[in-house]
Amino acid sequence: MTCEDERLRGKHALITGAGSGIGKAIALRFAREGAEVVVNDIKKEAAESTVDELKEFGHECFAIVADVSDSDQVQRMVKEYYSKFPSLEILVNNAGIGGSMNRVVSMPDEIWDRAMKINLRSVFLMCKYFGKLMIKQDAPEGQVRGKIINMSSARGKKGRANFAEYAASKAGIVSLTQSLALEMGKHRITVNCICPGVIHTPMYGPVTAEALASANQIEPPCLDYKPVGDPEDIANVAFFLASSDSDYMTGQSLMVTGGRLFV
Ligand SMILES: NC(=O)c1ccc[n+]([C@@H]2O[C@H](COP(=O)([O-])OP(=O)(O)OC[C@H]3O[C@@H](n4cnc5c(N)ncnc54)[C@H](O)[C@@H]3O)[C@@H](O)[C@H]2O)c1
Repeated sequence: MTCEDERLRGKHALITGAGSGIGKAIALRFAREGAEVVVNDIKKEAAESTVDELKEFGHECFAIVADVSDSDQVQRMVKEYYSKFPSLEILVNNAGIGGSMNRVVSMPDEIWDRAMKINLRSVFLMCKYFGKLMIKQDAPEGQVRGKIINMSSARGKKGRANFAEYAASKAGIVSLTQSLALEMGKHRITVNCICPGVIHTPMYGPVTAEALASANQIEPPCLDYKPVGDPEDIANVAFFLASSDSDYMTGQSLMVTGGRLFV
């Protein structure tokens, strides 16, 4: 069922990695708020399954299967997107992979390169190829033209042993968000990022929320009634960043961790 006030009605949104976890929760939330949503994922079945759930809201939606870390595939995605939707008001760069649990001194080079490619290069490519069209879109005078929301991590603000490649790739997203916000401000496009704490998603495999909480007790959240977050906790913040309530915010990184890791 859609929300009564449908605050994203008339907006077109593209969410990467929306076949699962946080991206899927964001897609569902945006559709509930009236947005027309394009679901990207590298996994066809996952993307199509999210689209099937979105159809329930009765707005236009479709899937684009592509690897967002590959320049040719992102450029093909741009063509496919604009062949069906006239404009892009909300871009969510969410696709990513987790850490490898390697120490730096014994980390295979390929593990480092893979994290940089999938987690960071993908955000650069999406912002480059979609951003250059977003800045040309018509927008009423005095109103924000578009919103870019990047998915970093609390690890992008504070490193952790055995997570170096993941933390560095996510710190790169915080920095890219700031630089891009400075470039995009004059085009009336806001660029912000979310730094989630530990969120119970398929990224961790078939572990229970309880097991995930007990594996992450080094820095417990101060909201101890809820030791790990749900994808919807992140979707709520993504909705805020997509809505006009955040129009006067750009270049920011929001920690959404239940109080874990104050930095
Ligand atoms: N779950 C957490 O605790 C947590 C914490 C901080 C940040 N994050 C970040 O949130 C984002 C979503 O994570 P999640 O927990 O929902 O994971 P998830 O594994 O449930 O979902 C990630 C999705 O991204 C897709 N994907 C991966 N590589 C891709 C590529 N190259 N092109 C297109 N799609 C690709 C996957 O197929 C998957 O459907 C990631 O960027 C992750 O780093 C997650």
